Amino acid sequence: MVKNDLFLRALQGKSVPRPPVWMMRQAGRYLPEFIKIRKKYDFFTRCRTPELASEITVQPIRRFGMDAAILFSDILVVPQAMNIEVEMKAGVGPWLPNPIRSQKDLDSVIIPDIQDSLGYVMNAIKATKELLNDEVPLIGFAGSPWTILCYCVQGQGSKNFDKAKELCFTQPQVAHQLLQKITDTTIAYLKEKVKAGVDAVQIFDSWGGMLSPVDYQEFSWKYILQIIDALKDDAPVIAFGKGCWFALEEMAKSDVSALGVDWTISPKLARQFTQNKVTLQGNFDPSRLLSPPSEIKKMVKQMIDEFGKDKYIVNLGHGILPNIPLDNVKAFIDAVKEYE
Ligand code: CP3
Repeated sequence: MVKNDLFLRALQGKSVPRPPVWMMRQAGRYLPEFIKIRKKYDFFTRCRTPELASEITVQPIRRFGMDAAILFSDILVVPQAMNIEVEMKAGVGPWLPNPIRSQKDLDSVIIPDIQDSLGYVMNAIKATKELLNDEVPLIGFAGSPWTILCYCVQGQGSKNFDKAKELCFTQPQVAHQLLQKITDTTIAYLKEKVKAGVDAVQIFDSWGGMLSPVDYQEFSWKYILQIIDALKDDAPVIAFGKGCWFALEEMAKSDVSALGVDWTISPKLARQFTQNKVTLQGNFDPSRLLSPPSEIKKMVKQMIDEFGKDKYIVNLGHGILPNIPLDNVKAFIDAVKEYE
């Protein structure tokens, strides 16, 4: 149905003339047309207004022609729907004034009706599908239960999420109940997103790499696996675990369609750990987009050579940084399109 189906073919493991390319956090802060909208509307207004969310989603596609769009939204709309207050503070980032630190706090956390609380996301998906006009597929996303717990317990971003870990290790029953509530909500949420029109879903485990390999299985992967199993018959699922190279072998045993990898692992080792069982996505160091365009092009070509053109989706190893010049983004995308 979509005209450019490179991304969907790569997710199915089918052979392609060249790999597809998109960039994590591509709808955002490095784009002048985004900054213009940001000046007029606050963050959650942008998320809740379908005309704004859809416009921001297609901005990078219009300018650079990525092979997939990712819906403009945020992973923190899920805890918000679960009755946890979330603000986006200028200069601070996410701010949760009433963090979850006890059984009593947990009792106020609900598993919401998705249409009632997150219907605006479904409306944004429908508006975006119309704007995209079936040119490229649309990706929907959610945070992993562990990454959402990190914000719910810590109350804000952190270098080590010490309070989140403290809850897991001192009150594990509370942590597991919270993780299960987030998992149940996320499954229902992603199923609605697929019904509303997204062509694939990605789970962002941005803080999985904070955990030891053993704790990762207990507090993160176990729950991601529930989401994969619940969604696999609805749409392809991509799991991105930042810093989670140690878990790749286990992750590849699941029914996931693709695994995201960051730049701390070589393409060769990532293939070895996953035994070529799944499509891999990544893993250009976002800071490397500060290199001159000619060098970016060389590095991208080498990255594709190393991963191989099949079962591969070109991407960064984490979100694009706000200070990346537009010409450098263009060099990254063009290098993939010129690959032969
Ligand atoms: O990828 C895209 O372009 C789609 C939109 C998207 C946003 N957030 C928009 C956003 C996506 C996929 C996310 C995911 C997200 N949000 C993650 C996982 C990916 C990652 O980067 O690890 C996380 C951890 C969050 C939580 C979050 N939201 C943080 C830490 C911040 C503040 C720091 C920052 O990145 O600027 C946000 C705010 C946010 N989400 C912004 C955008 C464009 C910037 C604030 C603004 O525009 O006012």
